[in-house]
Amino acid sequence: MVSPMNAQVTAGRLPLVVGNWKMNGTRVTNVELLAALRASGPFDAEVSVCCPFPYLADVAMSLQGSGITWGAQDCSQHEPGAYTGEVAAVMLAEFGCRHVIVGHSERRSQHAESDTLVAEKARLALAHGLTPIVCVGETLAERDDGTTEGVVKRQLSAVIHTLGHCVSQIVVAYEPIWAIGTGLTASPQQAQVVHSVLRAQLAAASTRAIEMRLLYGGSVNAGNAQELFAQPDIDGALVGGASLKAADFSAICRAASHAALGSTGKSRT
Ligand code: 13P
Repeated sequence: MVSPMNAQVTAGRLPLVVGNWKMNGTRVTNVELLAALRASGPFDAEVSVCCPFPYLADVAMSLQGSGITWGAQDCSQHEPGAYTGEVAAVMLAEFGCRHVIVGHSERRSQHAESDTLVAEKARLALAHGLTPIVCVGETLAERDDGTTEGVVKRQLSAVIHTLGHCVSQIVVAYEPIWAIGTGLTASPQQAQVVHSVLRAQLAAASTRAIEMRLLYGGSVNAGNAQELFAQPDIDGALVGGASLKAADFSAICRAASHAALGSTGKSRT
């Protein structure tokens, strides 16, 4: 179990590792992947798998009783009604989802999702008992222009504006777009700088910001996870490609467990 002496735990920040399968998987390979993941646990970190909608019932059955939670990759900004092709947050709750990713850069860019739309999705997710994982992140051009901080603060401020102090109930994932699926990872120091900016912004909105989990995403793998998790404001990861391979994903979950147990030597306040 997690050591009560660890400062991170004292702050209530149990590391969280979330697999974002994106539009991948088959019913057969999902069963194999989840069986292998179950077998490599339990972990001293919270672990969750966000699968495509049609697989939710299967994934729930595979993970029931394992301690590993599951979720979805998006939800509608509407309550149930005449919205062809959409999936409501209340439906995800019916399938036992713990998390729902909102505002992933692939949805922002491929589906023109605005900051306010993402905030509305987060609001509905919370209203139905789900934890929204709100993604923020800059393009390479924005990083090169020196506007990273402004971009992520703008994205997060729409969510803060909508949720008010309830923003403390969300998880934020910083995913620099140039690091997603490219094999390029933000250095732990680059990621930490943005995470500390985000935590400061959250602290201005909620006294509970110190307890909130901020994840890093973008080419996280078994080789770089430990150093990322050693940063004081990085509380876990949102993992794409590596979450499709049981050995790689469980290695990342183990790195998060080590961080929870304080074996990276970090001290959090
Ligand atoms: P990769 O880990 O494949 O870079 O994807 C990151 C991501 O987009 C997770 O949401």
